[in-house]
Amino acid sequence: MANVAVIGAQWGDEGKGKIVDWLAERADMVVRFQGGHNAGHTLVIGENVYKLSLLPSGIVRGTPSVIGNGVVLDPWALKAEIEKLTAQGVKVTPETLHIADNCALILPFHRDLDALREDASGAGKIGTTRRGIGPAYEDKVGRRAIRVCDLAHLDDLGPQLDRLTAHHDALRAGFGEPPVDREALLAELREIADFVLSFAKPVWLMLNDARKRGRRILFEGAQGVLLDVDHGTYPFVTSSNTIAGTAAGGSGLGPGAVGFVLGIAKAYTTRVGSGPFPTEQENEIGERLGTRGHEFGTVTGRKRRCGWFDAVLVRQSVAVSGVTGIALTKLDVLDGFDEVGICTGYRLRGQVIDHYPSNAADQAAVEPIYEMIEGWHESTAGARSWAQLPAQAIKYIRRIEELIQCPVALVSTSPEREDTILVRDPFSD
Ligand code: IMP
Repeated sequence: MANVAVIGAQWGDEGKGKIVDWLAERADMVVRFQGGHNAGHTLVIGENVYKLSLLPSGIVRGTPSVIGNGVVLDPWALKAEIEKLTAQGVKVTPETLHIADNCALILPFHRDLDALREDASGAGKIGTTRRGIGPAYEDKVGRRAIRVCDLAHLDDLGPQLDRLTAHHDALRAGFGEPPVDREALLAELREIADFVLSFAKPVWLMLNDARKRGRRILFEGAQGVLLDVDHGTYPFVTSSNTIAGTAAGGSGLGPGAVGFVLGIAKAYTTRVGSGPFPTEQENEIGERLGTRGHEFGTVTGRKRRCGWFDAVLVRQSVAVSGVTGIALTKLDVLDGFDEVGICTGYRLRGQVIDHYPSNAADQAAVEPIYEMIEGWHESTAGARSWAQLPAQAIKYIRRIEELIQCPVALVSTSPEREDTILVRDPFSD
């Protein structure tokens, strides 16, 4: 039985929420495997708009949803998000939400440190979501983290807390901040512990059992491959591996469990935060893409930078993430342009190259080589079949497929879940 991993093939915000929601209806479980509440997934269901950050998108329709060990979990953000969804009529119970008991926690001083560092970095700032994601992952790999399972043993945390606060107190002193207030931290953790623990379990056991029983698992990636800590535009990346390979390690399943990898890519490109962006259009084209595409961040409300489709970067994402098929989203945003650009290669200090270099200075120096394609003036908004697409739009999609060396499996033409052209069903592969 095929499982499906959905991952972003650009810098996040590709429209994964809608696609995951669409697939979640036929999945038996939806699993988040990396990132935290830095993600922003918007689901539009009829009149209702749901904005999720930490919870898997399946939760809205009652599909059993799992937060895997690869996620960093802010207990207070979890509670706030559950309360907001409950107020919208969504039931979140220990039967529908399962949290890995070996997830590392995001604590209040992680959030502080994220903001302190960003504020102190001047032009070198990363433009993080300031949710404490980076500092929490650092503590995880530094073997200092407090994990979900530790919430059941708060009275025995002594030596672990010593190691954690020794590290943070030194960092805080450097920023002129007082040491971590251990008693206040423990009091806050005591207050929230039972709530988090009510959803906690060894989810790897549950997932392996589900797999043996042939259940369909949908892995929901957050951010995008270009924000991957190894393969992205380092150091302007997030602190987790966002590639599809992480779906296995971040949930406690073997690599064979991942199945079909659906890469989500916008028909153009956007980015929030700092970092290189070769096809960025800081002109009226970028303005028009941003306005038509409502390009404002779900989590921070920041205006997104916009530009043409970069086939070199998406081809690279397809390769490093083993993408089986692409879901091309927001095609309708390109309606009405006289011509649309696709980046097909770069020029780096006079040399033509066919991939994105690893070094940050080289990444910033590349100049995109564009192929301009005649646009279309008909509307593609709401199209549900190829027959409803103008010939030029089809030509654009076919050229993208050729350049990224990967077939398009789905085309999304509006935020509504039914406005989707299905070429190849990831679940029936
Ligand atoms: P962090 O994940 O908060 O540490 O932020 C690191 C970088 O990833 C920044 O450029 C953020 O804007 C970006 N980022 C993090 N999460 C998302 C997301 O869900 N969509 C788009 N960009 C994101």
